[in-house]
Amino acid sequence: MNDVARGTSSNDNNLEMIPKTYKTNYGEFIGIGGNGNLWVEDCDVEELADKFGSPLLIISESQFRYGYRKFRDAFRRRYQGEVEVLFANKSNNSLALRHIMNQEGAGGDCFGVNEMYIALLAGTNPKTLVLNGSNKQTEELEMAISNGLCINIDAMDELDRIDEICQSLEKNADIGIRLALDLDPLADKYGVAMHGPGTLKEQSDSTKWGMTREQTVEIVKRALDMPHINLKETHFHLSRMTNEVGPFAVMAREMLTWSGYIAEHTGWVPPCVDIGGGWTFGKWYGTGPNSQIDDDSAPTVEDYADHISAAIEDEAGKLSLPIPKLRIEPGRILSGPIGVAVGTVGAVKENGTKKWVNLDLSTNHLSWAAILDWYYHAVPVEDTARDGSEIVDLVGPLCNSDELGKHRKMPPLKRGDRVAFLDAGGYVESQAARYNAQCLPATILVCGATAEVTTEREQLRDVSGRFRVPPRLLGASFA
Ligand SMILES: Cc1ncc(COP(=O)(O)O)c(C=O)c1O
Repeated sequence: MNDVARGTSSNDNNLEMIPKTYKTNYGEFIGIGGNGNLWVEDCDVEELADKFGSPLLIISESQFRYGYRKFRDAFRRRYQGEVEVLFANKSNNSLALRHIMNQEGAGGDCFGVNEMYIALLAGTNPKTLVLNGSNKQTEELEMAISNGLCINIDAMDELDRIDEICQSLEKNADIGIRLALDLDPLADKYGVAMHGPGTLKEQSDSTKWGMTREQTVEIVKRALDMPHINLKETHFHLSRMTNEVGPFAVMAREMLTWSGYIAEHTGWVPPCVDIGGGWTFGKWYGTGPNSQIDDDSAPTVEDYADHISAAIEDEAGKLSLPIPKLRIEPGRILSGPIGVAVGTVGAVKENGTKKWVNLDLSTNHLSWAAILDWYYHAVPVEDTARDGSEIVDLVGPLCNSDELGKHRKMPPLKRGDRVAFLDAGGYVESQAARYNAQCLPATILVCGATAEVTTEREQLRDVSGRFRVPPRLLGASFA
């Protein structure tokens, strides 16, 4: 086992990890290897696809640990208060990844009863988990209260429902409140229209999330009188996909402005602010809509840490508030760069003006490609650096246009060749669909030279097994 593999298989989350040097690096642990093929850690992707089948999702464990530590350390080095990183499980809710996050000491953001269950199943310390959601079910609240998660309130009746469950279970509950920040300084700022048209403020105002200042004050006042309720934090998530760090600093500052307002009206000073996810990552080759979002102009984690810390510390100083604990819920910045989605070329078709390369991967698997056909950077798996001499549309087999990547520069591709989409570790497996009764791919986890299945390839029985035919129809069909 080489140094990289030794380092990453250790539970010592302070161990320094040494990035690998490839002929071309696409990440610290993903790149073009000595034989010209795409490699994930010490594994040739072509060999992985031969062994585990296609289509295939490949995750680099070292890249995951490395990205997490980099993010955590940037904030811990810079911020004056305590910092807790809560991995946004929704971005990749694989059980194996949750185990890795546990080993690293990371908490988690859970949406819904199943994400919470998976995190608990992996043995995550419930005190490092938060439950977010705009319409929490009773079963969900019961599970959170029984296990001691912090519940971020996002509806006026939620406090009473939590209190009632606490009384019947004879338990106390930790709660936070999701805020509907005003974000006035973002009234003229635009992000990427992935979440709809309008400025960042308009987009934020138009979503269902969060409680107004008055509602927040009312919830806090009532919670302070409830013996079973422990007020823990305020919460916000700015999911507007922008390459600018400024909007995040605006958001972080306003969290503190609201802390001042809440303190003034209730006497309770939020001891912790949870500022959610939305963090971008930078790649020299660019990904995201028109390759403009996760490109190398994206803020570094140090930029984020600097601006966020400065904004919070400055506003706390102005309002004479203590520096709160900072919770952050990064998703795609941690999970995106760890994954490679591999497909195999089937039919190649031309009409004189246009060429389509069909793959067995689809927009069922890479669902963001369905709305943003430039989202993922695609490379051939074999002889990866070959010059792209052709412009082709990479398409999947579904009955819609199934465009995975339009107008891509590729070398000539033929049946049996493989194509990889980079930075496909976040919101791929967790958002996959089954249109056309297509089975979902397997996922393997690579650590050094070791590759293991972490999600089994779906079988037809998994797709059709839930179907039931009413007996009255059976008779007629087989008559
Ligand atoms: C509450 C919350 N936290 C964190 C995240 C993670 O966002 P991202 O993956 O963009 O970092 C999300 C994403 O929807 C979210 O809703």
